[in-house]
Amino acid sequence: MDFPIFHIDFIGNRLLIAADAILHVLINHAFAIGALPIIALLEYIGISNRDPRWDQLAYRLLKVIFIVTTTVGAMTGVGIWFSAALVNPAAIGSLIRVFFWGWFAEWLVFVTEVSLIMVYFLSWQSAAKSPEAKHKHLKLGIALAVFSWITMAIIVAILGFMMEPGNWHSDQSLLSGLFNPMYAPQLAFRTSLAMVMGGMTMICFMYWFTVNDLPLRSGVMFLIARWSALWMGVLVIASYWYYQVVPQNMLANLPVAITTQEYTDWHANFKWLLIIGSLFVAWVLLESIRQPGKVHGGKYLASLVVLCLMLGQFERVREFIRKPFIVGNYMYANGIRVSDYPLLQRDGMLQHATYTDIRHITPDNQVKAGREVFEIACTRCHTVKGVNGIRAQLIKMYGEKPWNASVIAAYIDNMHGARYFMPPFPGNSSELEALSVYLVSLQTRARAIEGAQTTGIPKPDKISSATHYGTLPDLAKPQPGTH
Ligand code: HEC
Repeated sequence: MDFPIFHIDFIGNRLLIAADAILHVLINHAFAIGALPIIALLEYIGISNRDPRWDQLAYRLLKVIFIVTTTVGAMTGVGIWFSAALVNPAAIGSLIRVFFWGWFAEWLVFVTEVSLIMVYFLSWQSAAKSPEAKHKHLKLGIALAVFSWITMAIIVAILGFMMEPGNWHSDQSLLSGLFNPMYAPQLAFRTSLAMVMGGMTMICFMYWFTVNDLPLRSGVMFLIARWSALWMGVLVIASYWYYQVVPQNMLANLPVAITTQEYTDWHANFKWLLIIGSLFVAWVLLESIRQPGKVHGGKYLASLVVLCLMLGQFERVREFIRKPFIVGNYMYANGIRVSDYPLLQRDGMLQHATYTDIRHITPDNQVKAGREVFEIACTRCHTVKGVNGIRAQLIKMYGEKPWNASVIAAYIDNMHGARYFMPPFPGNSSELEALSVYLVSLQTRARAIEGAQTTGIPKPDKISSATHYGTLPDLAKPQPGTH
């Protein structure tokens, strides 16, 4: 509540981050983490067998990786920061407090990774001149693969922490934050999944690059398929391990996460889709080991699509089941800390918000106040008319007949109990009433909320010092209409 609320009513804040982040993860896992070890492996075999065809194939594949990771990959990575910091600055602020040195290390590792891929790619042809240069070059490739993995290993700690901070709750140390209960299983899961995806991605490009050299294709296919099948085995074990450490309250969110609550049956079906999809990918890999070069290219493409869909859905579900929290048991998805709830529920949120034009609710400003309450308490997940629009949700619940503010207020008062994934209402009773009156007004007159909040009035003195929230009001320049 110290920051202006940023809101896009059409696609909503969740989808904004999700679209960018999922694209980033697909590229990162398939092209950076999973593919780079294969490039180093191909280069190594090229050197040991003195076969320039392996070496040149590795170079062509690296060119694809280089272009994709340094353009879309890097930009979507930065995009996650931009979008997450805009949508939930309080959460990013808390995470930076815990992981400051983690992020600092991440930055160093990332810069090293980008430098390494540039040198590795750009010096490939000149390294071919002497065997010594080639050996050094191969070492660069191995270092690049390791550094790419380390960037993920650091970020996965933060993702795990957001789901379950574990001992950090009691000792608040960086180490407890890093090695949270979900860390190791999630890292094992992502590493093995990335290796399988990287293998399948490289197989698809390799298939295309070797149209005129079928013997080379079967040789390389045999190698990458065996490598990927091995990781597929690890993936099965890692997935099971990961599933075991997911806390019970999150598992209870699974059915809603997978689609929406009306289609709970989907949950069961989804499991089957997951099993059939994985079996298909495993079958394609085993066929490629049995008859390298004989399997139709379309099957590789289909496997890659299946893997991308599974990873995309996994990210979506993982983000959803963490709700109502953004940081497990510490901060709700609305950016409000669990420990600040009693204060806000007593005084009201508008008393403590930095960006609001209303501190006291009267019958005249009730609808406007309700809109501000909606912005603070609901817009991290709901829009007015767009994705997960509140108007559509209310129509679903109360139909087209005139809505009743006290019925809506009663629901919101208990919304966390009714739908666990929504945080409890963070305000006091007059804010609850204002919100309900505002929601009723949407039935006849729904106006989208757009852009970031820009105005706010200074907080009363007693409030500013009574809370750890917010910047102190600028008393030198009181704004009109206050005090
Ligand atoms: C953490 C995210 C989140 C927050 C914050 C949140 N909601 Fe929701 N809400 C959801 C999701 C997700 C759904 C279910 C969407 C679906 O099933 O299609 C939902 C559904 C609803 C529904 C329909 C419930 C039903 O039983 O069908 C109402 C009403 C609602 N929200 C009101 C609110 C109000 C009012 C606020 C703010 C005080 C709020 N929500 C805050 C995520 C959130």
